[in-house]
Amino acid sequence: MPSDFFRFINGHLSVEDLPLAPLAERFGTPLYIYSRAALTHAYCAYARACAGRNARIYYAVKANSALAVLDVFARLGASFDIVSGGELARVLAAGGRAGQIVFSGVGKQRHEIRAALCAKVQCFNVESAPELHRLNEIAAQTGAQARVALRVNPDIDARTHPYIATGLKTDKFGIAFDEARAAARITAALSHLTLVGLACHIGSQITATAPYLDALDKMLALIEAIETDGAALSHLDIGGGLGIHYRPAGETNAEPPPGIEHFVSSVLDHVAQRGHAHRTLLFEPGRSLAGNAGALLTRIEYLKQSGEKRFAIVDAAMNDLMRPAMYQAYHDITPVIQRKDAMPALYDVAGPICESGDWLGRARRLAVQPGDLLAVHGAGAYGFVMSSNYNTRPRAAEVMVDGAQAYLIRERETVEQLFAGEARLPADALSYSQARHHAAQAAKIL
Ligand code: LLP
Repeated sequence: MPSDFFRFINGHLSVEDLPLAPLAERFGTPLYIYSRAALTHAYCAYARACAGRNARIYYAVKANSALAVLDVFARLGASFDIVSGGELARVLAAGGRAGQIVFSGVGKQRHEIRAALCAKVQCFNVESAPELHRLNEIAAQTGAQARVALRVNPDIDARTHPYIATGLKTDKFGIAFDEARAAARITAALSHLTLVGLACHIGSQITATAPYLDALDKMLALIEAIETDGAALSHLDIGGGLGIHYRPAGETNAEPPPGIEHFVSSVLDHVAQRGHAHRTLLFEPGRSLAGNAGALLTRIEYLKQSGEKRFAIVDAAMNDLMRPAMYQAYHDITPVIQRKDAMPALYDVAGPICESGDWLGRARRLAVQPGDLLAVHGAGAYGFVMSSNYNTRPRAAEVMVDGAQAYLIRERETVEQLFAGEARLPADALSYSQARHHAAQAAKIL
């Protein structure tokens, strides 16, 4: 298991002080379980490394936006990185302060910008010249002054999965490095904008510090260039992206990411060595705060054999945890109760959805029986938040464990909720024969 907070006690997988099997009985499966202690532990590692330094932590809400998770971080004093009006509403509902929010995202809509200006967020991370103009226009209408950081694409290869690399020239994100100075001039000329910093984000699940230091060098040089044009930039937002362990400790093919404290210190030391210690560094971690604080519990429905291959068909699927299907991501999978009475065998762990891509793990050695519970680890970030209702599957429930307490933080969806907002055609819609006639006419035109 990649987390210290999920561990076997007498053969029973437990989180903090609680065995997981009774939680599955009580709340049903599939079930997301989070550990408050694990969230707190990860946050405190960031906070320790930032103590006494000019640095702040903005939790990337997209990683896990459950109100209870946001609440845990808000109580710890975190700031927040959001990417939508919906995330703004969540942070405020969970007790976060608007003045501690940066608003990132490549496609901010007018209503989202308006809501963020009204709430008085700390800063907009702007990704294009058209967005600068839109922001200025809405700020003028609302009589506000918007604080702006330019999100620049530093053209750095973060050496991660192509779907989660964001800092290359060919990615849709940010303002091209060579155009950033011009964008700073545009910002200065727009009377309702104040340029306060630069931002970048080079990717996610990054397991080396070197790409960050390369990005820092480019960004600090750019800050110096922009300041010679007369601007004063108080902060640099280095984005998120620090990777986590997904594989169990000791597995040889693991590519270990640096520890949080080591990573943050390396970044801050590098900034200081370059003579920029007076500038505030913003970190936007998501996965490294929440990823290993969560697991997805699922029950084995069937064990089946097809030729040489064995499958454990479970009640969680790609709609619950999309990462394996989408990125071929590895998540460690363990039984919840270790058995001595079943022979270990290699199984593909797959869900009930009608897609070959619907798997959670491949070729896993498990000693299991039908009805057993499995835990899919490392599911605290980009797990529930990416879930869908594909195959009309209600989304899972979520539980937060806090010491010996387990709190239901989201009820399981019901099928009725899934189509509550839908409608059949009205009673006076075209009759069957009219509709057939209409279809025949339309087919001729096409
Ligand atoms: N800041 C910005 C501007 C971002 O775009 C992201 C993530 C973060 C911060 C947080 O990055 P983190 O520390 O969590 O790596 N769904 C993918 C990950 C997508 C990440 C998108 N941006 C996955 O499941 O691996």
